[in-house]
Amino acid sequence: MEKLTGLKKIKTAVFISGTGSNLKNLIKFSIIKKSPISVDLIISDNHQAKGLNFATQFKIKKRIFGYKSVKITEKIILKLLEKKKIKLICLAGFMKILSKDFIKKFNGKIINIHPSLLPKYKGLNTHARAIDNKDKFAGCTVHYVTAKLDSGKIILQKKIKITARDTPISLAKKVLKQEHKLYPAAIMTVYN
Ligand code: GRF
Repeated sequence: MEKLTGLKKIKTAVFISGTGSNLKNLIKFSIIKKSPISVDLIISDNHQAKGLNFATQFKIKKRIFGYKSVKITEKIILKLLEKKKIKLICLAGFMKILSKDFIKKFNGKIINIHPSLLPKYKGLNTHARAIDNKDKFAGCTVHYVTAKLDSGKIILQKKIKITARDTPISLAKKVLKQEHKLYPAAIMTVYN
């Protein structure tokens, strides 16, 4: 990844599909002086995504795509990223899988947050799976995005204890709290 030069921040796009708590957290992080990134674009595949409200609240450009054709949609997104001089993509609860081609074109500049201790529990329902397996620990991971789902190089990970009382919902809450610390920390790691 490229290093920071002077005070120029790295133009970043955040891709979301839902609540956008990580998006909000990244926007807040981007505003502080020491942050290496600025959030300049929000992309979503879901018109109903609650997180899109943060685009309005923080006056950040947003674009929503229906994804009827992945190929055409990704082509438009790539053009937009180029036009906005985006150098980093942060996936934050984005439910579409990016194509190999797209990832290749943005190679090494796409990162994702995943609610498990990867390589454990790639994909969905991570918390229920961890509880069902009677795991002692859960957590979250920020990693580079490669063509293989949830398998790119790990940047940072945070581990938390699963208690006997935990349900998938309570665990998700606890992990999400950690995600909000981990994502900015991982970005700082990448750019230091
Ligand atoms: C988070 O748990 C993230 O790890 C996963 O999707 C969820 C998104 O939550 N990829 P939010 O929309 O950021 O609140």
